[in-house]
Formats: sequence, structure tokens, C-alpha cells
Amino acid sequence: MCGIFAISGDSPKAGASVLKGLKKLEYRGYDSWGVCVRESKDGTVFIDKEIGKISTVRRNFPDGCEAIGHSRWATHGGVTKANAHPHQVGKVTLVHNGIFENYITHKKTLKTYKFLSETDTEVIAAMIDNFLHQGSTPDQAIRKAATQIEGRFAILVMVEGISGIYAARRGSPLIVGRGSNQTFVASDIPAFLEQTNVVNYLDDNEMVYVCGKNAQFSDLRTGDPVQKRNIEVPWKIEEAEKGEWSHFMIKEIFEQKETIARVLKQEDEKLLQAMKLLQESNGAYFIACGTAHKAAMAAEYFFADISGRKINVVPASEMPSFERFVNPKTAIIAVSQSGETADVLEILERSKKKGAKIIGLTNVLSSSIARMAHVHLSINAGPEKAVASTKAATAQMALLFLLAFTDVNKINIGRQILWATASSINDMLNPRYESWIRSVAERIVDHPNLFIIGRKSLYPMALESAIKIQEVSYIHAQGFAAGELKHGPIALIEKGTPCIVLGDDQETVSNATELKSRGAKIIGVSATKQDVFDEWLRVPDCNGAQAIASIIPVQILAYHLALLKGLDPDMPRNLAKSVTVK
Ligand code: F6R
Repeated sequence: MCGIFAISGDSPKAGASVLKGLKKLEYRGYDSWGVCVRESKDGTVFIDKEIGKISTVRRNFPDGCEAIGHSRWATHGGVTKANAHPHQVGKVTLVHNGIFENYITHKKTLKTYKFLSETDTEVIAAMIDNFLHQGSTPDQAIRKAATQIEGRFAILVMVEGISGIYAARRGSPLIVGRGSNQTFVASDIPAFLEQTNVVNYLDDNEMVYVCGKNAQFSDLRTGDPVQKRNIEVPWKIEEAEKGEWSHFMIKEIFEQKETIARVLKQEDEKLLQAMKLLQESNGAYFIACGTAHKAAMAAEYFFADISGRKINVVPASEMPSFERFVNPKTAIIAVSQSGETADVLEILERSKKKGAKIIGLTNVLSSSIARMAHVHLSINAGPEKAVASTKAATAQMALLFLLAFTDVNKINIGRQILWATASSINDMLNPRYESWIRSVAERIVDHPNLFIIGRKSLYPMALESAIKIQEVSYIHAQGFAAGELKHGPIALIEKGTPCIVLGDDQETVSNATELKSRGAKIIGVSATKQDVFDEWLRVPDCNGAQAIASIIPVQILAYHLALLKGLDPDMPRNLAKSVTVK
């Protein structure tokens, strides 16, 4: 949530470069933006900020070799120009990603300051400025302020009259990019991937001072120097760019032609390490949010069917009610694309303190969850930039499917099934398939309600289908367990109500018939065509991995419903990728 980006280097066009990099982080937040340039002519700071999406912004900035910027997803304070970052207080200009939970207490003590915004961020800037006035050096002032912040933060700070940029983090991501003549600091790698793929990952409670091509790392609490390794990230620029595609969402949907097969590259040793933690445990939980939670729900069925293991699935935000059952014999499998989701992180932090063993499945390798886990498994789907998670979700399910086979020493059988699944998904995903789904979308787009049903591992996919349709098309969509319909939800069905039926097993087909007799229009998603279907979206028969294939046509349907309604599927309202606030 919120993208932040800084450059310190030798090019006087730092402002334009920060704007360009921020556009690549727009998926993290897109209600307002701002850039600050330290002007070459006299060292003063120039700030430009506006409400609205950054993607369409064209600006000329004054010359300056250092700049910081921000693309916002509002938390404290509405979407106004005054609340947009950067915030300047006295000598300090600052951008922030995260939440400063106790900011009101501090705001009250800073009586000499006149605050211009409703944000928590402006209070951090004032605290740093106040410490400067009391005689602290910039890095001392930042350290003092940071130690008083309760909550999660990543900040980039410019101090008037001092060259270089300071950055610090606790809980929100920050990555340093090492160019030949300049240094970058960003919430995510795509901001600077065009310039460099050599990075240093900033850990929690660390700080960096960057000036030109130099970067000095230190412990945020003690000031002690910290050594960092240069790491080359394997991402290619094309993976993080839209290229010929009209949106990231459809690009990422089609990337599932490769991403599911890529999961098979997972080393056996890693899978076995994860399994060992699970097998030694006495009670296991999947913890995740949103789409990742639905992938974990599907995995609950995979484990039950394949290895006979019961794993509890709890949305991270609901886990506090069950935390008293967490102990050193508990295994927690955290599933997260970003690896930064605040609700998940908090549970993991507390569970780890209680001695629980953490298995983390993330897409972002450098993420907090990846680093916190005792065993980390990469879902290896490549950068996912559309807000709606697609390829990450299927890669998560594929990896968890493989893990269930590992549980019974049958990794190779799991690999064979997934290989066949990946190859039939590769065949299925073609332009003709997409245009057929678009035509189905055209026939249902005007209905205000849409329902989805599924059984077994297709039940979580019914829930996930609803998320995809809701978030990008704003159509009211709801998923149900197929057998639950007659216990209430069937009352919602009217003549012509579109109902997506995932699966072609006998019981689900009979549930579809119940819906049809009440007037529903049935859209079947299955390997075989059934008489009850009014529309049919064919998916391959995947031998237990059906959930993985079945969600894909619904992803495409959601995408086209959004386009038909004139919406931007990459940037749905009120949402942002990577939910780093609770
Ligand atoms: C929906 C979606 C979200 C995320 C959720 C968890 O398409 O993307 O529901 O799945 O916010 O995010 P991660 O996986 O990053 O923990």
C-alpha cells in the first residue's frame, strides 16, 4: 500500500525519473501522488503533488539530482492535495508508507507546529524537524523519531541543506537499487528495474543513507553499521511491464501458461524441509487473506484428499480468536503473494514468539514473510502488478498441491499431475478462448447480481470467483458451497440471474438444475458439457488439480466484465496491491 521511491545520483533529471518509477509502483496505491526535487540551483526543495492517478501525469521538474516521491492509498486523512505526500515541515521533507498508530499522542506534544494535513506522516516530519532543532544530526533525529513510532513504516527523508536521502523501515518494504552512478530506494523493484537489477534488501529496524552511488546501512536503533550483500534479482524488465498487453491483469492471466509449470522447479529438498515442520507439528494452520486465503482453502481439500491431513484454514484477521491454541508444536503455513500483508505478519510475529514453526509461501522473495519463515517456498510467478491476484493464486495452489503429495512421499506423482495440468492450461489459454468468454460476458454484464457455486476444492474457487468479479467489475457476486444453496441462498435466484457452476459432478449438476428451475441462467465451467448449462466454459480435466484450471476462465470473465463496464481492471476503486495496513 503506497509506493515510495527515491533517487540520489548525478543526473539532474531525478524528478522526472522518480515520476517514471512511481508510475511503475502505481498498483500499490493510486489516489494521489507527489514528487519532491532538491533543486540543483540552490538546494531548496520543490514539491509538486496532486490528487488523482499518477499514470497520466506529465510534468516538468526543475533540475536536481535528488528526488523522492509517493503514490498514495489513503489511510489517515481523505484524498486531498493537502494529505498527499511529500510532507514538508521545517527543514524536513518526507514520504511514508505505513501507519503511525500513536501519531495523535505525538501531535499533541508538538505544540509549536502548525499542521497542514490530517496525516500521520506530517507528524513524523515534525518530530524529525523538532529533534533537528534540539541539536540532533539528521540520522540521530530520524533514529529518535523512528523509535517512537508504533506501527509499520517505510520512510524516505530529505533534509534541507544536507545532500543525500535517508530511508528507514520497520514492517513496510524498502529495497535499495545500486546503479553505476546513482542509488535508488523503493517499495518494490519495478521502480528501478530499468536501471539496475542489483539490490540490497533493507531489513526491519534498519536505515540507509544514500548519496550518489554510495549507500551506508545502519541499525535504526543503535546506529551501528550494517553490512549488506549485493543481490542480483532474476526479474526481467518485460515481466514487470505491460508490453503489448492492454492491461496487467490479462497479461498475468495469460502468463499462467508458464507459471504453473514453473512451480515444478521447486527443489525437493525445500519441499521436504517444509513437510518435516508440518509432520513434526501437532496442529497446523493456513493463515492468509483474500485470494491467498481462498488458495489455502483449496489446499485444505488437497491435503485432506491426498495425504489425509487436516489443516485449519483461518483468515489472518480472524486468527486472534484462536491464537491461544498456538504453541511450540504448531505449524503455520502463511500464504501471501506480497509477503507483506499486515494481518498475516502480525499473526506470524506473535506465533513465532510462542515458538510456532512458520512455513512461508510468497511470490516476493525479499518480503517480510519470506524472511520471517523457518522454511520459505517461492511460488515463483514473477511480478504480479494487477491489483487482482491471478497467476499468484494458481501458483500458490499448484505449490500447495505438490506439498500435499510430498506429505505422502509422492512428489513425482504430484509433479506429473501438475505437469499435465500446466500443459492443458497452456492449450486452453488462446485468443479464441478469450473471445468466447468475452461473448459470455456481453450476455451477462447487465445483471446486477451473479452467483457462483462449487463443491469440494471448487467451493473455495466459487468464493474466489466472487472476489475477482466484485473487485474489478463491481457487480455484486457471491460464491456458495453448492450444497448450501437450498439452505437459504436459492431465495436470491430470479429469472435470468447468471449463476456460474464450477464442476460437472452429479451432485453439482443437480444443484445447477435446482437453480435453473428457478429461472437462473447457468454458466458451466467444467471438463464436460452438461444439458443444464446455458453457456459452457470448457476447462481440462485435471485429476485432482481442478481448482487450478477452473478459476482461470472466471478470471478472464471478470476482466471482460470490467472492460464492458468501462472500468480499469488494473486499478479497481478503493483497493491497492499489498495491504500493509490492518
Ligand atoms: C484479490 C487480492 C487480495 C489479496 C490479499 C492478500 O484479488 O489480490 O484479496 O489476495 O490482499 O494479499 P497477499 O497475497 O499479498 O497476502
